[in-house]
Amino acid sequence: MKELSDIGLVGLAVMGENLILNMESKGYTVTAYNRSVEKVESFLDGRAKGKKIRGAASIEELVASLEKPRKIKLMVKAGQAVDDFIEQLIPHLEPGDIIIDGGNTHYPDTNRRTDYLKEKGLLFIGTGVSGGEEGALTGPSIMPGGAPEAWPHVKDILQDISAKVDDGSPCCDWVGEGGAGHFVKMIHNGIEYGDMQLICEAYQIMKDVLGMSADEMHEVFAEWNEGDLDSYLIEITRDILAYKDDDGEPLVDKILDTAGQKGTGKWTGIVALDLGIPLTLISEAVFSRCISSRKDERVKASQVVKGPETTFDGDKKQLIKDLKDALYASKIISYAQGYLLMREAAKEFGWHLNYGGIALMWRGGCIIRSSFLGNIKDAFDKNPELENLLLDDYFRKTVEDAQAGWRRVAATALTQGIPAPAITSALSYFDGFRTARLPANLLQAQRDYFGAHTYERIDHDRGEFFHTNWTGRGGDTASTTYNA
Ligand code: 6PG
Repeated sequence: MKELSDIGLVGLAVMGENLILNMESKGYTVTAYNRSVEKVESFLDGRAKGKKIRGAASIEELVASLEKPRKIKLMVKAGQAVDDFIEQLIPHLEPGDIIIDGGNTHYPDTNRRTDYLKEKGLLFIGTGVSGGEEGALTGPSIMPGGAPEAWPHVKDILQDISAKVDDGSPCCDWVGEGGAGHFVKMIHNGIEYGDMQLICEAYQIMKDVLGMSADEMHEVFAEWNEGDLDSYLIEITRDILAYKDDDGEPLVDKILDTAGQKGTGKWTGIVALDLGIPLTLISEAVFSRCISSRKDERVKASQVVKGPETTFDGDKKQLIKDLKDALYASKIISYAQGYLLMREAAKEFGWHLNYGGIALMWRGGCIIRSSFLGNIKDAFDKNPELENLLLDDYFRKTVEDAQAGWRRVAATALTQGIPAPAITSALSYFDGFRTARLPANLLQAQRDYFGAHTYERIDHDRGEFFHTNWTGRGGDTASTTYNA
């Protein structure tokens, strides 16, 4: 083993351990540290035995074991624990040393920590790491941002341990300054929420409208995974549907229908509201989890509030085909909205995001990995300034081709009383996006009527505001015109 380690890692939970083993397998020597030191010992005696991994019994020992500039990766719970470890490390580090936070941190915290450590002469990286336990071990998607001076020092190691796409490109590249990496990971998670919700809506339509069994749905997902929808989440859904409990019944049927969430989807929705971006699909996915978690309320309501009887006498095969189109088209909308939000955030926070590069980082290793991300990469390669994915020829044409089936699915869900908020809101966004004249003329009239909020006119220049005394009883004084 080398005298000094290439990198140290703090936090021996599932992601931390697997990342260490991944680094070691790529030829790096790693020092492992954990707040409760017994965990370090059991790791060294277990999975780390005989490998180029050394343990540290204290922060001092960890720091002293590292090559300079020291690189220390924190894989601890996002929030206070990250600040606590940073404070413990600071007195032992020297200018130019690098701390990397690999948790699901909220990006404003990464902005703050990057600035704080810069004042102390230290370099901070906040990086999203996606791929779960298996990805951490075999190659996750890694989205680093923070202090750009740190990147050349960690580039090799982070790219070496990351997933690779078919041509060998790593699913890891520099995202941008401050919290940019964690922002992009947050969007990844929001998109993950959207993809999962879409799949769940298709599942419920198949189950409750078509009366399909788990095995039958397994077959459909297996087929979908061979085509345009080919993705990790479709693949695991296929496998989940085939999985049987001890009594031979599908395990999925026995799982309580209340979704958990750790907050990254909610953060995505909040930023979208703050920046005024119509991120409808991901927001609906978050709210769907909220509705699901109010199980008692739903059970009570189901006994008294009646909807339509669910009966289907249409063409079952056609509806399954339509569902595939609805999923694919809605997915395009979700990514279009997510990319819109990244563009707006880049403007707001002064980041220079490489949108094609982000698609490439998500192409392998992460939870939303799919062949579809290759098409997004191509779209941004063709036009790095692409304003909306729906304006790219491939995506425009794909959505146009899918829209008849998509509309039939939305109509079926609505008439049969099956909630499909992601599929239907995606369609409403699509229709809003492609409508030159929306009814907001009437809305502006209403605002002006009751609050003298003023309006612009189609027969005058933009920026000229008018007020009408609609009732003859109001005055001519308009309220100030500003937009939040
Ligand atoms: C990933 C996942 C990972 C985690 C989510 C789960 O990219 O590997 O996104 O970060 O599984 O945080 O999020 P919820 O608990 O909110 O579903």
